[in-house]
Amino acid sequence: MHIYIQQKLQEAVRQTFPDASLTNVVVRPCPDPRFGDYQSNAIMGIAKERKLNPRQAATDVLAHLDVTDCCETPEIAGAGFLNFRVKPEALARAIAAPLEGAPLFFQPVAKPRTIVIDFSSPNVAKPMHIGHIRSTALGDALARLNRKLGHRVITDNHIGDWGTQFGLLTVGWKSQLDRASLETDALGEMERLYKSVTAAADADPGVREAARQELVKLQSGDPTNLEIWGRMIDLSQVQFDEIYGRLGVQFDHTLGESFYNPELKRVVQELVGKGIARESQGAVCVFSEGVLNPKEDPFLVQKDGEWSPNPALIQKADGAANYATTDLATLEYRWNTWQPDDVIYVTDGRQQLHFRQLFNAWQRWHPELREGMQLHHVWFGSITGDDGKPYKTRSGETVKLAGVLDEAQERAFAVASSKNPDLPEAQRREIARVVGVGAVKYADLSPNRQSDYVFSWDKMLSLQGNTAPYLQYAYARIRSVFRKAGAEAGLNPGLIQLRHADELGLAKRLVRFGLSMEAAASEHRPNYLCLYLYELAGDFARFYESCPVLKSEGAERNTRLVLCELTGRVLKEGLNLLGIEVLEQM
Ligand code: ARG
Repeated sequence: MHIYIQQKLQEAVRQTFPDASLTNVVVRPCPDPRFGDYQSNAIMGIAKERKLNPRQAATDVLAHLDVTDCCETPEIAGAGFLNFRVKPEALARAIAAPLEGAPLFFQPVAKPRTIVIDFSSPNVAKPMHIGHIRSTALGDALARLNRKLGHRVITDNHIGDWGTQFGLLTVGWKSQLDRASLETDALGEMERLYKSVTAAADADPGVREAARQELVKLQSGDPTNLEIWGRMIDLSQVQFDEIYGRLGVQFDHTLGESFYNPELKRVVQELVGKGIARESQGAVCVFSEGVLNPKEDPFLVQKDGEWSPNPALIQKADGAANYATTDLATLEYRWNTWQPDDVIYVTDGRQQLHFRQLFNAWQRWHPELREGMQLHHVWFGSITGDDGKPYKTRSGETVKLAGVLDEAQERAFAVASSKNPDLPEAQRREIARVVGVGAVKYADLSPNRQSDYVFSWDKMLSLQGNTAPYLQYAYARIRSVFRKAGAEAGLNPGLIQLRHADELGLAKRLVRFGLSMEAAASEHRPNYLCLYLYELAGDFARFYESCPVLKSEGAERNTRLVLCELTGRVLKEGLNLLGIEVLEQM
């Protein structure tokens, strides 16, 4: 709907001001429905550039604008806003379209982009903890959204499978491996080894030296150490895959850090050769280029009122490369392999400096790609307890993700069992799985990703408020309408008559689904889609309260069933884009 009005408006602007750029001529939902359904502030900008009276410019544009087939006469408001009010017949045609095979209130993009999304990326030999839900849920939602909009999406799990931790781990593996617990809980056993050897190394420099030697052996290709390392990766991957299976998350590629090892020496040499990096106290570092405003320069930091160097290490004094070097090699590989238009990294906010430095160093290394490949760090805040501190178990340990999913399902099972004691257990278990996993994901996706949020079982599992169970329940309720309507529920797209204010309100919300998808994708904020779905469910509840569906007849009944059907489709599709399943019955 807004796309049609927008196209018409662009056409009118082109006729009135042939030299005006049309990129800012956009139409958005009207913030206050009393003024209309859609609004554009584009004419004010155009008038300002030309030093014209904005209301006069708006009048001139309106003289060229014909939207009578879809809107009442547009109105000029305030300093030159254009307000549009959609006609009920046009709205009826718009909602009929998906029933006749059109996309569900969104338009696939005209120019698909190639988008690499780097997300989840846990470190090997450590169990995934609750924090991993953030990158995993956000990254997966962005992948689904962009794919749905028609982009070419490539997902890559950049797992941390290389690094100094393997020295300590190998010492532990060789000296105190408990094979039985390796069988039952490999990641738990590796975590135990790591903690135990770290403690030993803190107490005894000899252990630290042993770990260093094991690492050197691994790095120089010692077959035994390579085999142990390979086993640790394989065992970790099994457990990661189990969690990804439960979360319904898939990756196109899992190219861990080690994949880039063969390139690291050359990357360091190239950066040195181009003067981007230089030697400093035996190590090699990237320093400021000295062209940016110090405030924007990631290689400068303010100390005692002075700007001092804040270099990024890319080769340690012992010759080993690190996380930053690997990320440079990874970007080069991604460019060479996929020529992406965008690369999106989904990580914790604490990595902001790393990515600012990475992006800056990369652009100096490959200035010719500055425009061609856009780099985005999509960062997020932490999950906290009631005290505002990072969420921990009572004994102060990090909370394992598998345990969080188990508990969510157990709690959802208790609710499902008390609500539907007569359903077979297998069905209650399935409800619990879909609701439990959905609740954990939605609790993570619905707040602004950059703020911290408090982990709360009661809130995320509540059937009231902006939660997954509330939306899943709204969907299940709609399905039950159709079970009751039975065979008579055949929908007629040609017989839609929107009369009641709540029918109109719901229909107007439905046609905005695509706007919320676009906003969520372009700003990397799935919470926009969450909010839209929550508001949709609210509009539906209002409609369902005031407009009897099954007791109505003829065109009214058809219209209301169509509204139920489309609300169900949008809820299902919207939740699917967030990686959340729905149930026919709850
Ligand atoms: N493994 C890293 C961590 O756990 C995240 C990697 C993110 N991706 C990247 N290309 N640096 O912090």
